[in-house]
Amino acid sequence: MKKLPETPLGQGKADRFTSSGFILAAIGSSVGLGNMWKFPYITGMYGGAAFFLLFIICLILVGLPILLAEMTIGRGGRGNAASSLSNLVHNKNWKWLGFLMVLTAFLIMSYYGVVAGWTLQYTVDSLTGALSKPGMDFEKQFVDFAGGYWPLFWHLIVMVLVGIVVGKGISGGIEKFNKYLIPGFLVILLVLMFRSLTLPGAAEGVEFFLKPDFSALTGESALVALGHAFFSLSLGMGCMLTYGAYVEKEQSLGKATVAIGVGDLGYAFIAGLIIFPTVFSYGLEPQKGVGLAFMALPAAFSQMPLGALFGGLFFLLLAIAALTSAVSILEVPVAYAMNTWKWSRKKAAAIISTAAYVLGIPAGLSVTGVLSSWLPFGKSVFDWFDFLTSYLLMPLGGLIVTLFTGYAWKRAGEEAGLTGFWYKAWMFSLRYLAPVLILAVLLYSLFVKPV
Ligand code: PHE
Repeated sequence: MKKLPETPLGQGKADRFTSSGFILAAIGSSVGLGNMWKFPYITGMYGGAAFFLLFIICLILVGLPILLAEMTIGRGGRGNAASSLSNLVHNKNWKWLGFLMVLTAFLIMSYYGVVAGWTLQYTVDSLTGALSKPGMDFEKQFVDFAGGYWPLFWHLIVMVLVGIVVGKGISGGIEKFNKYLIPGFLVILLVLMFRSLTLPGAAEGVEFFLKPDFSALTGESALVALGHAFFSLSLGMGCMLTYGAYVEKEQSLGKATVAIGVGDLGYAFIAGLIIFPTVFSYGLEPQKGVGLAFMALPAAFSQMPLGALFGGLFFLLLAIAALTSAVSILEVPVAYAMNTWKWSRKKAAAIISTAAYVLGIPAGLSVTGVLSSWLPFGKSVFDWFDFLTSYLLMPLGGLIVTLFTGYAWKRAGEEAGLTGFWYKAWMFSLRYLAPVLILAVLLYSLFVKPV
């Protein structure tokens, strides 16, 4: 086997994460819009604490093993999401399967930036009081906003910012960005949690979020929990794999896996303790997805004393969550372009973020804007992006990772530093449990109904 290059790029001096920087960046990637409103919502809907328990089980049995596998492939292969695979085995065709993950990341980047842009606009609007006019109709407000042209501007700001951070590299860009934002994020989160739990009637919201209802646990809730564990840990699109390529040999990947899992779960849990007490305290209905974050919550904040401030902080949280995930997504195609086409990091970041911006424009305009009535094959452009990536390409990417680590690459245990029981347990998940369950999620979301 050929000797592997010292840096993922095989050129220049090694640009690596420090060990704490890596954990923060990986938590920054995993904590995203999924934690901030999808997790709380599906927990409330599928059985509260009972679902939470199920989610933890899925996270441990399937999510964490794949997370560890991705990081291990990256560190072992020292390449991008495509070449790391083919660097490790004789069959070079694996890189084409890996390339699928690079493509997935690029597609996700293009529409994730749209939503990140909304969070910036809502942060500014909350802080300036534009969202706390009495008697405001928040549904109309959102529909008008997303249907207008301002989102194109905010989307641009997001892509420029993310492009700059990624262009500055791992230690000087991505690591620094996360080092400031993730602890700041925790502080704001705790302030908001304190605020929401002391609102009158907060207990009702906590009850909606956590009341254990074991009768609500069905096969469907298991698949939803599994699918979300996957999305929440940023798996199946080469993100953790690419970050793994910048990790030092000395760092324990097992410990990193546990830290990232606990971080992801903790942030999601606190988000639930903010959202539902706030919504219930003002007698509002908990809604799904976009409605919850951009309609129900602004309505609650508009009635709260100092609501402009708390609302601003809440949207700032969403913005941070989205931005620290977005940099990890952009890094996947950027590392690929640097490796494959020998582009400099800055050039790769500039060209790819611009391309993702352009591709995201139709997605942005199709939510409630000019393209919203154009429904090729029954879905808007935005919904197609979401459907293709979350329900098809990401599970497929996960399957590739499990099969590669479980069957094709024989030295994964050595690179991951696992022996004995833990190695056997890891392999059991990667070889049997995870592929079967991912296939179930894939079929379920294709043929039953995506949540
Ligand atoms: N994990 C992020 C979330 O919970 C989403 C994400 C998916 C980020 C894939 C990066 C890559 O929202």
